[in-house]
Amino acid sequence: METNGSRNRENFEVREHDVLIIGAGGAGMRAAVEAAGKGLSVGIVTKSLLGKAHTVMAEGGMAAAIGNVDPEDSWRQHFIDTMKGGKFINNWRMAEIHAKESPDRAYELEQWGALFNRTPEGKISQRPFGAHTYRRLAHVGDRTGLELIRTMQEKVLATDTKVYMETTVTKLLQDASGRVVGALAYTRENGKFIHYKAKAVVMATGGWGRIFKVTSNSWEGTGDGAILAYDIGAEMVDMEMVQFHPTGMVWPPGVRGLLVTEGVRGEGGVLKNSEGKRYMGDYDPERMELSSRDVVARANFSEVQAGRGSEHGGVYLDITHLGYEGIMQKLPTMHEQFLKLADVDIAKEPMEVFPTIHYTMGGIKVEPEHCATTVPGLFAAGECSGGLHGANRLGGNSLSDLLVFGRRAGIGAVEYVEQNTHGTDIPEADVQTEIRRVLDPMERTKSDKDESPYLLQSELQDVMMEHANLVRDEDALKEGLGKILAIKDRVPNVKVGGNRLFNPGWHTAQDIKYLVQVSELIVRCAIERKEKRGSQWRLDHDELVDEYGSINFITKKGPQGEVEIERREIPPMPGHLSELLDESAKGAKV
Ligand code: FUM
Repeated sequence: METNGSRNRENFEVREHDVLIIGAGGAGMRAAVEAAGKGLSVGIVTKSLLGKAHTVMAEGGMAAAIGNVDPEDSWRQHFIDTMKGGKFINNWRMAEIHAKESPDRAYELEQWGALFNRTPEGKISQRPFGAHTYRRLAHVGDRTGLELIRTMQEKVLATDTKVYMETTVTKLLQDASGRVVGALAYTRENGKFIHYKAKAVVMATGGWGRIFKVTSNSWEGTGDGAILAYDIGAEMVDMEMVQFHPTGMVWPPGVRGLLVTEGVRGEGGVLKNSEGKRYMGDYDPERMELSSRDVVARANFSEVQAGRGSEHGGVYLDITHLGYEGIMQKLPTMHEQFLKLADVDIAKEPMEVFPTIHYTMGGIKVEPEHCATTVPGLFAAGECSGGLHGANRLGGNSLSDLLVFGRRAGIGAVEYVEQNTHGTDIPEADVQTEIRRVLDPMERTKSDKDESPYLLQSELQDVMMEHANLVRDEDALKEGLGKILAIKDRVPNVKVGGNRLFNPGWHTAQDIKYLVQVSELIVRCAIERKEKRGSQWRLDHDELVDEYGSINFITKKGPQGEVEIERREIPPMPGHLSELLDESAKGAKV
């Protein structure tokens, strides 16, 4: 088997791997470790840097029913909490696998060197988080995602995995039978094209928070992986489900949307309005600040709407009871973040917070066992995939998700490679056609129809903020869809100056296609789901509607490029799982 081989051709280089992983956050790295550990040749391609991913924004912890602090905890209760949080449209088999396997993934991470906070007896410490029945989040202060990334980086670098950084994938390549046999990419540094040949591709590109202006996502979150998969026929599930984390920074304007970890509420932080009232009692008197994210986000929004907001249009989050020492022990990043960015000492005064777009529950549809998508040879894991979290993700379930399913996607890719002897060649003309398409915004002659990718992105973000935000209704969504389609019509006219060397305009010209398409899918599905469920809050249908509790919205690219939407029945849950939910409905903890 040829590994890492390259030979020059006219316009592009060729690299070959058994498994190509696109994305270098937690899910991608975990998949790489699995596949490389089986002796396969693995390449990771990332448009950013190894480990520079949204994974680090899961600060407060990784959910795993280890039971170190609350021995009554169990995978069963974790399953129930995840299904309840997702308002029962989750893929129940994924939720079962996730709940059962996340303890092993936490222990594995510890064995690989992650420095978790400890209980007095020296076990991995676990903190409370919203809608988790027990204290369940294994954590490293408020830097858990960062520690996960650091640990996984070391693990990846100890394998033979080849890492291609600052390399943007523009297309998944298929053979005549439709199976994925590689990808085309270019290096951001100098615009050289690379044709990656691979027997299996794992998509681990994260979410698409950058479709909104106010977001906890960094520049990478533009939905590339989802749309690359959608473009070649992969099914997507419940794209309307976009999570608004209840607490992002609001001030100063330059940091609006930056995450304020749920760990603050986990450590006893209280939410107050401008009247000094601790208002969560009006929204969820039992769980208060530790209600699920959808509920807390709506509460924060409603308080501001009612004119009880803070000075800069948020609400107050107060953790002063912990004192300086406690804060430095449990929430050092938050202390530094507020002091340096907002000149606020959170040991002495409350923070101002407001919901920020944080996570996308919808995504590429995968089968639960090995994360295979509906396109042969293509696997997906982590935030770019959908199903596990249903209508609302519980905090801390993302880190466990990406390790559990990153590993499974790696196993799936290995098995697929071992079972399939197909070649990975495609006609060179296909590669040349794609190269010409990618270069078009730079090489096309100027015209008075030219569009700036930056302005289109900014317009799109305004549309999504105005029409598909935390509160939605049919008229606003339909108007928003019209605006998105108008922007979509202008995308082919995107034109950029400069050359291929470090050209951010050119990179944005690629992103805008993904951003627009992902927004269209979200809005179309949000129009179809006429109810309030988890993160989907329709003011014109402000209640759960039974008929939507048993279906997922599946989207797919139609033959003419149109969006096909199917209402697909969720398969019945097997007895051993439905019994758990019945017991829980009767009030039992299991
Ligand atoms: O608030 C947080 O620390 C985020 C955690 C998560 O999204 O899982």
